[in-house]
Amino acid sequence: MSDIVTVIAPVNIAVIKYWGKRDEELILPLNDSVSATLDTSVMCAKTSVCARSSFAEDEIWLNKEKVSFSKRLQNCLREIKARAAAEKTVDEAFLERKIHVCSENNFPTAAGLASSAAGYACFVSALAKLYKVKSDVSSIARLGSGSACRSVYGGFVRWHAGTNPDGSDSVATQIADSKHWPEMRALILVVGDAKKTTSSTGGMSISVKTSELMKHRVQYCVPQRTEAIIDAIRKKDFPKFAEITMKDSNQFHAICQDSYPPFVYMNDTSHYIVSLIHKYNEISGEVKVAYTFDAGSNACLYLLEKEVPKIISLIKYAFPSSNPDSFLTGLASEEEVLSPEILNICEPQTKDLIKYAIYTKVGEGPSEVSDGSHLLDDNGMPKA
Ligand code: DP6
Repeated sequence: MSDIVTVIAPVNIAVIKYWGKRDEELILPLNDSVSATLDTSVMCAKTSVCARSSFAEDEIWLNKEKVSFSKRLQNCLREIKARAAAEKTVDEAFLERKIHVCSENNFPTAAGLASSAAGYACFVSALAKLYKVKSDVSSIARLGSGSACRSVYGGFVRWHAGTNPDGSDSVATQIADSKHWPEMRALILVVGDAKKTTSSTGGMSISVKTSELMKHRVQYCVPQRTEAIIDAIRKKDFPKFAEITMKDSNQFHAICQDSYPPFVYMNDTSHYIVSLIHKYNEISGEVKVAYTFDAGSNACLYLLEKEVPKIISLIKYAFPSSNPDSFLTGLASEEEVLSPEILNICEPQTKDLIKYAIYTKVGEGPSEVSDGSHLLDDNGMPKA
């Protein structure tokens, strides 16, 4: 039996955004956040780990390149080992072994698609398997990247800000599992020029220091919205869910503008998508689609399955592509002939403003891969 452990882990897209830390070292947030975990069959990180006495040092390869074993990775490893030691799951000699890690994303890292969340959740979940840690590891994934703690669970997830200075209560919990709202879908629109100028870590640090609006958001808006969106998720109330999602995304980007110096993540295409969705909801007479944007120009649309054919047709009409056959990836979908009323809400834009779209759904948390498709070979080195 191989001593290599391989795990896949999902991406998550927040509907109540995490923005701002109360402790930068421990990655403790100022506010609770809520997200949906997306299906690993469409987008995932995959990580193989193994620990051997023959390894001279901890080494990691990311998307086929050797990278440094960063402070954040070291923190995660240290905490998993401490947990294993406390839970006495492996012996002292095993804990002293060095590890090799090989990780890949099956989607472009540069596109700014929550790759760090999936990556750290995968790394920590693989380590938890390697060291036989059974307890909740969301607080350890959090040490890699805050949003990673939410990728430790499937379905709809809440990251509790917590109040303890040591971060022990800053953990993720599941609101509802992936089967709770089976009609929920996500359509990710990958907008060009996705190279971000301000990292999320850097941006939120400026916001904490300078934005007045942020104080209002943390104190008044997020607590109310968090309760309301959890209620909407439990009741499967899509219009409510969608309205809160859009308002929270808008407020997060307003905070970026309210920061000093200000920074922007959304571009003209992002704003065009916002107005298109509002027009679509207006002619539908009900909120049928929600948009949300993270620290980049890409949009994530949340919508119910029955709305998908129309929205995909609308997006293809409004954002023509040079490669229409490869424009849409992910789950299988259909298209629908659009009514003149829908065609009326937009003009086709110049080609390739949206590079491609990924159609996916809510999915489960990290899982161990049992088909032997490890990223490390028998010598514990990355496979060619
Ligand atoms: C806009 O988790 O990437 O995507 O904790 O500094 O690593 P660090 O930040 P990160 O921030 C994500 C911010 C966001 C909102 C969200 O996912 O909640």
